[in-house]
Amino acid sequence: DMGGHDTYMHKEIAEQAEAVDRVLRGRIDDKFATVHLGGLNLDPREARSVRRIKILGCGTSYHAGQIGAQLIEELARIPADAEPASEFRYRNPVVDPDTLYVAVSQSGETYDVLAAVQELKRKGARVLGVVNVVGSAIAREADGGTYVHAGPEVCVVSTKCFTNTVVAFALLALHLGRIRDLSVADGRRIIEGLRRLPGQIDEILKAEPEIKRLALHFADAKSMLFIGRVRGYPVAREASLKLKEVSYIHAEAYPASELKHGPLALVEPAMPTVAIVPDDELLEKNRAALEEIKARSGRILAVAHQEQEKADHTIIVPKNEDELDPILMGIPLQLFAYHTALALGRDIDKPRNLAKSVTVE
Ligand code: F6R
Repeated sequence: DMGGHDTYMHKEIAEQAEAVDRVLRGRIDDKFATVHLGGLNLDPREARSVRRIKILGCGTSYHAGQIGAQLIEELARIPADAEPASEFRYRNPVVDPDTLYVAVSQSGETYDVLAAVQELKRKGARVLGVVNVVGSAIAREADGGTYVHAGPEVCVVSTKCFTNTVVAFALLALHLGRIRDLSVADGRRIIEGLRRLPGQIDEILKAEPEIKRLALHFADAKSMLFIGRVRGYPVAREASLKLKEVSYIHAEAYPASELKHGPLALVEPAMPTVAIVPDDELLEKNRAALEEIKARSGRILAVAHQEQEKADHTIIVPKNEDELDPILMGIPLQLFAYHTALALGRDIDKPRNLAKSVTVE
């Protein structure tokens, strides 16, 4: 049942405020400015002894894991990184007893992720799952973890589950942070930020008519560049994946800082750029990148917290805490991908060559 929407993708984008509400519900502990994650199966002493965190997932779940790794480093100061599970399992990785592994999957059935988890467990590693489908293979195989509570996601292209997975990582990061060095004041600041998310998501979704207009404006592009820096880079990667999957327009994501090391050669009017420009300590650096693009007559669509003078168009999103901004900044670009695909007459819920869960090697 699409509840009045023309596609599941549109329905699932529209459901994100309630989905985020669901992942937060019952988990916040205001007294200690922390969160409780029931199934984690990691006591405080174990949580304190974790030296590294390695996050494994594929596609959109991998991108959510990249933001998750940044959240864990920022809030819990534990070195963390994400890697495609499909790469990890083929490279005879060093499995370190002080590393906590986290497997991320919407379906909980992705074979590359499951195989990575099985290999890790065979070698004695501790593996948590951040999974949407309750009781799925990866959820069962993991030592513990947390459900993402996005609800059923039918469209092959993941939207609401991406958002909820990142929120679940923010909860995990806050939990680990408050067991380690994160202050009560910072814990409160993050909790208040999390509570603002559902209202801010609805605010972003209200800009749909404007986003649709922009999508029609850029739908003739053969290729698009997506750029962002640090917190904005995984957002750019995910937005680029969304556009490719659903519209079949070629898109490439690059760190804004790397533009001058190559991709600037591609910039011309026929190659538009989508730039993620949060109001954080890198704002001036990001503005300089926009200037570089403008100087080469590149068309720019910015997603930002304030109007960007160098951009041809700016989609303004509400500001949250710096650490949580990536959760919001990709949402308008889900609608951008959707409306581009709609304009091009694509099969939105079932893009060619793709399947909802990839249970083969
Ligand atoms: C993106 C997409 C895929 C999946 C990937 C992992 O929109 O649908 O990239 O994210 O196949 O799937 P899960 O999360 O089920 O393991």
